[in-house]
Amino acid sequence: MSSPASPLRIGLAGLGTVGIGVVKIVQRHADLIAARAGRPVVITAVSARDRTKNRDADLSAYAWETDPVALARRDDVDVFVEVMGGHEGPARAATEAAIAAGKDVVTANKALLAHHGQALAEAAEAAGRVIRFEAAVAGGIPVIKALTEGLAGNRITRVMGVMNGTCNYILTRMQNAGLSYDQVFEEARQLGYLEADPNLDVGGIDAGHKLALLAAIAFGIRVAFDKVELEGIGNVSTEDINLADEMGYHIKLLGVAQLSGRGLEQRMTPCLVPAESPLGQLQGGTNVVVLEGDSVGQIVMRGPGAGEGPTASAVMGDVIDLARGLRLSTFGQPAATLQQAVAAKSATPAAYYLRMTLLDKPGALAKIATCIGEAGISIDQMRQLNQHGEADEKATVLIVTHKAAPADIAHALGQFGQTGVLVGEPVALRIEEV
Ligand code: NAP
Ligand code: HSE
Repeated sequence: MSSPASPLRIGLAGLGTVGIGVVKIVQRHADLIAARAGRPVVITAVSARDRTKNRDADLSAYAWETDPVALARRDDVDVFVEVMGGHEGPARAATEAAIAAGKDVVTANKALLAHHGQALAEAAEAAGRVIRFEAAVAGGIPVIKALTEGLAGNRITRVMGVMNGTCNYILTRMQNAGLSYDQVFEEARQLGYLEADPNLDVGGIDAGHKLALLAAIAFGIRVAFDKVELEGIGNVSTEDINLADEMGYHIKLLGVAQLSGRGLEQRMTPCLVPAESPLGQLQGGTNVVVLEGDSVGQIVMRGPGAGEGPTASAVMGDVIDLARGLRLSTFGQPAATLQQAVAAKSATPAAYYLRMTLLDKPGALAKIATCIGEAGISIDQMRQLNQHGEADEKATVLIVTHKAAPADIAHALGQFGQTGVLVGEPVALRIEEV
């Protein structure tokens, strides 16, 4: 009779939303996991800041470490699961300590990997260790696995996605309830949707981290978060959401990454997408990731991007892979072979939605049209909206361009200011083909 396989032992750093989700799955599905992994998966030790906190789970069987670095170094830990968060401090120190101590690492921490992914991957591979991070991108959607495994035979041409549930909640709620950004932001705060630093969500940073991680795997490049063009949703107005809707578009905080002869393009910006597309139809906190490969065509993955169950599900998928003996490079190929991507000098041309307020006087629109023409941009649609009373002497103008280079759009916007007819700042949003 063969001896029972030795258990895989987890050291769990972080007992918040994700950490407690992991505890619950390990406890609830012990038999199922052992059957699938071919060996038991157990938690031996845990760490968090406050030992006295009531955590809605029985932790009595686990050793407690106040210091996550000490947890990472314990002899009875095979896999260090980091679900504390933050790209410096204890998360980074403990992850580095775990690798140095010969442990594999599973993390949900996109900020840590967006900033230090290359160095951590190199250190792990030099030590013969593995770092897995399914939970860091799009929560419960197994997109890392899809890219590194299922689609490994494809040249990936484009990765897109709505990858911040909080922003999508805010934008869809503004649209459906007709509420202002400030009203819905406050609602999201009260519902506990916002990160401790809300700018990580609404500033597009969190989603930018995720996009940079996907791009690294998709294109075989070093993580280049510093090359992501970032714009948050703070300036998206109900007026633009409604006008876009009338034209058959929805506004999303959309991430797009592509590598072409132009270089690497990574954008996380508010965009118009067709209302009927999978991205346009996305409601609330759900995420969608679109992967395009030269052989497979387009894959659309949709699901919960955050929360205890979905995120812990992704963590456990990684842990079970390690228990099974699956050992892949962090970004799908050895870290030393990842290329340093050159950022594209100019982004792929796109149609643009332009909205502006003009003085309502003869020749005003002609001056704006001239700026657009002189920038080499062709107008597809133009409408004057009767939102202002006659006494106000202002007119809102909506222009949709044919495909134009972003630099030409920026030039035209700069010229608008010289016309003497522009009131306030114009709005320019990319219309993304999806
Ligand atoms: P959380 O609820 O704030 O929990 C963080 C945990 O880390 C807490 O238990 C905290 O201890 C512990 N911790 C913080 N600093 C520590 C330190 N210095 N030493 C020991 N423990 C420390 O965070 P979360 O939502 O679970 O997120 C964890 C990670 O998963 C983050 O990287 C996040 O970006 C990522 N993530 C989260 C979600 C989600 O839906 N929540 C989704 C995807 C990815 P105390 O409890 O004692 O304060
Ligand atoms: N703040 C993130 C979101 C959590 O709203 O999507 C999951 O990464």
